[in-house]
This record gives sequence, C-alpha cells and structure tokens, in this order.
Amino acid sequence: MIIFKKVKDIHGDSYDFSIESEENHAIQADHLVALPAVIDPHVHFRTPGLEHKEDWRTGAKAALSGGCTMVFDMPNTLPPTFTHDLLRDKKALIDSQLKEVNLPLRYNLFFGADKHHLSEIPGIKESVIGIKVFMGCSTGNLVIDDDESLAAVFEMAAKENLLVAVHAEDEHLIRERKKNYKGPMHYAAHSHLRDIEVATRAVEKAINLSKKYGTRLYILHVSSKDEVALVKQAKANQLPVYAETTPHHLFFDTSAYDTLKGRAVVNPPLRDSEHREVLLEAIREGVIDTIGSDHAPHTISEKDQPYGQCPSGMPGIEFMLPLLLDAHAKGHLTLQQIVNLTSHNAKNIFNLPIYQDWVLVDLNKISKVHTTHSKCGWTPYMGKELTGWPVFTVSQGRLFKDLN
Ligand code: DOR
Ligand code: ZN
Repeated sequence: MIIFKKVKDIHGDSYDFSIESEENHAIQADHLVALPAVIDPHVHFRTPGLEHKEDWRTGAKAALSGGCTMVFDMPNTLPPTFTHDLLRDKKALIDSQLKEVNLPLRYNLFFGADKHHLSEIPGIKESVIGIKVFMGCSTGNLVIDDDESLAAVFEMAAKENLLVAVHAEDEHLIRERKKNYKGPMHYAAHSHLRDIEVATRAVEKAINLSKKYGTRLYILHVSSKDEVALVKQAKANQLPVYAETTPHHLFFDTSAYDTLKGRAVVNPPLRDSEHREVLLEAIREGVIDTIGSDHAPHTISEKDQPYGQCPSGMPGIEFMLPLLLDAHAKGHLTLQQIVNLTSHNAKNIFNLPIYQDWVLVDLNKISKVHTTHSKCGWTPYMGKELTGWPVFTVSQGRLFKDLN
C-alpha cells in the first residue's frame, strides 16, 4: 500500500490517499497535490530504426519523471508502422525495451496511413489507438498527398469506427512555398515556408472529410488562432472533431529562432506571439481538448546543421507538466483545466480503460530545467525556471521519485 498523508486535491482539500500496491510507503504529503497522471497522446520514441535519437528505455524514464504514465507513439519510424506485421514487430521491440529497464509505462500505437498499404486498415482497430495521417511531409516519408487516398482513409476509418489523427499541413502548398521563396535560407524561414495557410488548408480539408464520412477526427498540434477558429466552428456544428496543442506552441514563438536556432525548427513551425494567447484561451474555452508533447528527439549534431538539412522536431515530454504548472502559477490556467487537458479529455476521446495512475506535484517548487532523460541529451526548455514540479509518479502501483 502507498499512503500519501494529508495530500491535497485540486480544490485544496486535504485527505489521506492510499493506493493499492505491493510496495509499502507512507509519505508525508501536505505540501503536495494529487493529479491524475499525464497521458501524452503524441510522442515519437523512434523504435524501430531511429534509436540513436531515442528508444523506450530512455523515453520511458523521461515520461515517468514528467508525471506521464501513458503515451501514444507515432508511426514515422524506420520502417514506418503501416502493416499488421510491422505493428506486431514494433510492439515486441517496445515490450522488450521496457522489460529491460523494468519501467511500467503504458502505451498505445498509432497506425500509419500509407497510400500503398490502405488494404492494411481493415482489422487493425483492436491493435491501435487510431490512424495517423501526415497530410504534409515531416520526419520520415509517410505522407498522404492525394485527395483520393485521403478520402479513402477517412471512409475506411469511419466504417471501422477508428479515429483519424492528422498532421494537418498541406503538402502541395509547402512545395509551392519552397519553389517561390526568395528570402534568406535561415532557420526562421521555416515559419514562412510552412505558414498558417499551409495548416488551415489541411485542417479545412480534414474537417470536410470528417463531415462527409462521419469520421472521428483528432487534429494534432494546433498552432495558430486560425486553426482554433476552424475547430471551434466544427465543434459548433456538432462534428466529432477534437484538437491537441503542444507545449512548444504554447510557450515558444518565432522569437525563439534567435536563441535556439535549428533547435527551434519543428513541424508545424513556431508562430508569432499573438497565437500563444489564443491557444491558452482555446484551452480555457474547451476548444482545445488535449496537449501532446510531440516529443520528437533528434541528436544535437543533427539539429545543429544548417537550415535545409536540420530535421524538424524537439524533445520535451518530461517538461510538459512543469510548463503547465508554471502557467498555473502565473494565473493562466486552473488545475482543473490542466487535468482536463492532460488526462480527462484524452480518456474520453480515446475511450481509455479506467486505471489508477497519479502524479503528486509541488506547486511551489521553483527549479530550473537542468537535465533531461531523453537519449538525445538536449531540450529547448533547458535553463527555464519553472514554478510547479512533479515529485512522485505512481504507475501500475509502483512509486517513482528520482529516476536518475
Ligand atoms: O517537427 C516534427 N517532428 N513534426 C513532425 O510531424 C514529426 C516530428 C518527428 O518525428 O521528428
Ligand atoms: Zn509528431
């Protein structure tokens, strides 16, 4: 049994909290608040094939140290997860890596939509959390860039009652922007080459397909006020459309290119600062349902290459909760909004089974980001001083404090 004595709930009321466990701990917890453990619906843990960037041994440590006990992993690996056989192989690898480090991380996998493997979609429902569609190219070469295949995915998914998660950036518009771009090729160009219209064109298309076929649609990494407006309209029209944002779109903007250089390059790109406030407001209004870290590690030497060679993506799973708690400390979000965003809404959208995982946080702890468990060894949040940190994570009845 694990007992947290005098822990607080999100309303500030104290209680003695016991959790079923084979371990025995009695912890004086009057300085801590108990929150449901974080569900991160969007990670790239890189197994198989890209394990020089991350694997599940290190990814699981990073997740648990950030109060996260459940992740949904993306299919843009090497090879991509776009057949039943590849999915089975990937699960076996993940299970063996988790076993090696003896860490109880829960996970689900997204299946990759690929136009040459559409026949693999029927029958996949029981093994995956949803289908991931890259409407624009990103890391790897999974992309659906023709309307016919895209419609086929939405139609098949609706028949199977499978959720479709979209990386909503329009591939044709990206190519056009690259062809016509005359400005300097530095990192900040990324936000022009993949401007907001690149995102909204894809979001509109995906929402129209959701409407046409009745497909449950999850829009990944919503980054701009224009996408927020489209999601708000879709929800007002009673469509089964859900939206995720990311910590980097909430807590960084285009000014980050000056300091982070290639490490600020991510798809969809960072936006101007005005969008950040709208994303926060969309969380408060319930237009944005979830937050996904989009933990996308690349090595430092990969990220330090010049623009054009440097891959897109940034790691940060273990700092997602501290960043949100810091926003709470600044008065931007309530604890209830954070719980909805990091756990409650994901449970509903993805129909997750009930389980008892918790994170105990110290809302007053002030600390700088000074290290990361991610194999890639860096994070864009390094050096940031944040108020509010996880202290204990309880996953499957096991208590974690210091994962170093
Ligand atoms: O910046 C990104 N990196 N966006 C994506 O869509 C993929 C990700 C990755 O896997 O590196
Ligand atoms: Zn991603």
